[in-house]
Amino acid sequence: MGLPYFHINGGNRLRGTVRVSGAKNAALPIMAASILCEGEIILHDVPYVADVLSLSELLIKLGVDVERRPDHSLRLVVRDEMNSRAEYDIVRKMRASICVLGPLLAKRRRATVAMPGGCAIGDRPVDLHVRAMRQFGADVDLVSGDIVAKAKRLRGAEVFLGGPFGSTVLGTANAMMAATLAEGITVIEMAACEPEVVDLADFLNQCGASITGQGTPRIVVEGVPELKGCEYRIIPDRIEAGTFMVAATITNGELKLENCRLDHLMAFIDRLAAVGVKVERADAAVTVASVRHLEPIDVTTQPFPGFPTDLQAQLMTLLCLADGNSIITEKIFPDRFLHVAELNRMGARLRKEGPTVIIEGVKRLVGAPVMASDLRASAALVLAGLCARGATRVNRIYHIDRGYERIDEKLRAVGAEIERREGDET
Ligand code: EPU
Repeated sequence: MGLPYFHINGGNRLRGTVRVSGAKNAALPIMAASILCEGEIILHDVPYVADVLSLSELLIKLGVDVERRPDHSLRLVVRDEMNSRAEYDIVRKMRASICVLGPLLAKRRRATVAMPGGCAIGDRPVDLHVRAMRQFGADVDLVSGDIVAKAKRLRGAEVFLGGPFGSTVLGTANAMMAATLAEGITVIEMAACEPEVVDLADFLNQCGASITGQGTPRIVVEGVPELKGCEYRIIPDRIEAGTFMVAATITNGELKLENCRLDHLMAFIDRLAAVGVKVERADAAVTVASVRHLEPIDVTTQPFPGFPTDLQAQLMTLLCLADGNSIITEKIFPDRFLHVAELNRMGARLRKEGPTVIIEGVKRLVGAPVMASDLRASAALVLAGLCARGATRVNRIYHIDRGYERIDEKLRAVGAEIERREGDET
């Protein structure tokens, strides 16, 4: 017995149909929002990934009954409101735990959430979350590594969420969730416009909240006395869809993606088109076919509707095989480049200069043992393995299991040679 890893034999063309799962980054804040609600919540299309299990564990500790059903639905009901503490052991594993802060404070008037530390993709501060809670009138202190927040009541407020790297997705989620039960009107300026924020707002409105402007930088929330439960379907995972689009292209194959929202992927599809890749909608599915010649391009990650940082690593793998030099600049997490050195082990020619990577196209990648460092970097290495000559071993795949549901099984079903094995790290 050792650690699980992926063994991939590269070179197979992927062909067939893949169903995209529900979005992890929409499911997590919506699950946390259960803390705000009276009555039963049924969520459909919740992806079965490790982060969802970690948040379920945390919610159970916070007194929420969480029942997972085999059809990807989740039933959540608040049973007990005594505990308002998210411990470090769970926050450390999953930074998204921070999204219980707003709901706990709004509903239980107190929250203790361990301060998340840094992670592989950067420092990831939470100052904007804390600032928002203070603007609602809460007392917030840092005590022995915990964010301790208290309020007799929350008042609607004007909340500005701009930071040095743009807005904040989970910060917007926290502010919006707290505002639903605050007294009066809240205006969130420079709110994140990501589809996952819109999904949370739509869910909250279905529970009885009054939110407008979701999907724009100005969200207005009119506080209500209480929220009830509802039944809701999570949006498709745009990052998983984008990852499979690269898989089709990079293996010279053709994939049909079901449950795929192209309107959530405009910037990504624009860049794929510039590379020469065709993405077409046919009936309810989206087809991606390969091209022989990949054009080099420039890409800069930006908040939505710009190019998503969560697809930066995967696109980099594709650009390794372009016919010329490409440039990727990371404007959200300037240090999110741990995949660069690993891709270079596979024969890529990448040079990092500050928040930019210069990619010199090569004819082919070559299989090698590589180390996954974070969720999206691991996806980039799996993609590299799928097109590389020879065998690739991707170690530390627990990173990929955090956010991709059964990626090995899904890839195998469309022709990839990928196996989950166990052994000592090489
Ligand atoms: N930031 C601050 N202060 C804050 C919060 C954020 O300066 O208080 C900075 C961050 O350091 C970063 C930028 O603002 O430079 C944007 O970070 P954001 O807060 O939007 O990130 P997040 O909400 O913590 C979510 C996703 C990430 C995704 C980012 C950006 C979830 C659970 N996570 O994180 O997803 O990369 O938005 O789109 O929704 C992933 O799925 O692999 C992942 C990392």
